[in-house]
Amino acid sequence: MDRLFKNAVELSHKIIASTVGEGDIAVDATAGNGWDTVFLAELVSDRGKVYAFDIQEQALKNTEQKLKERNLSHRVRLIKDGHENMKNYISEEVKAVMFNLGYLPGYDRTCITRPSTTIKALGSALSLLKKGGLITIVVYTGHEGGMEESDSVMKFISQLHQSEWDVAVIDFPNRKNFSPYLAAIQKR
Ligand SMILES: C[S@@+](CC[C@H](N)C(=O)[O-])C[C@H]1O[C@@H](n2cnc3c(N)ncnc32)[C@H](O)[C@@H]1O
Repeated sequence: MDRLFKNAVELSHKIIASTVGEGDIAVDATAGNGWDTVFLAELVSDRGKVYAFDIQEQALKNTEQKLKERNLSHRVRLIKDGHENMKNYISEEVKAVMFNLGYLPGYDRTCITRPSTTIKALGSALSLLKKGGLITIVVYTGHEGGMEESDSVMKFISQLHQSEWDVAVIDFPNRKNFSPYLAAIQKR
């Protein structure tokens, strides 16, 4: 059985895979341990390109390692800077931007994504998106500051004009322990 609603991360991959393909340009706004970067690099093929951002050296090391093991490094530009600065590095339109908010699993839990930079980055991501392009945001509420960030994200995506943007949220209401939810935006 293919579990469509296993969790927010897997659902984000299904949605992204429906739209991103060979030759596309995509962004991983929070590289972390590199799983989303690898996923995007595999989708875009040798003709495409992925930009991956993180502010932590450790995250970029972990991501680089995973890419090397899979011979995918040449498809990815790793950038040690905040995603709120993505427009300093990307000038072309992109097919997708993935956000996986919160902290780097297994490392410093106080180094988290924060409302003001997340919202600035979402604004930049919207402005870089191609028609039909996607933004996915995996949002966590269980850590300190998580609920505040979730409120900011919900407020931001709720005011996007429906004539330009399709916005959806999928939550997992019967899960225990603050399971993350998925927000997604498609440019019409
Ligand atoms: C939940 S993890 C990402 C998981 C990752 N997508 C994966 O597949 O393993 C969140 C990451 O966001 C990073 N982060 C925090 N603030 C950031 C910012 N302003 N810009 C870019 N990354 C940031 C953290 O360092 C952390 O590695």
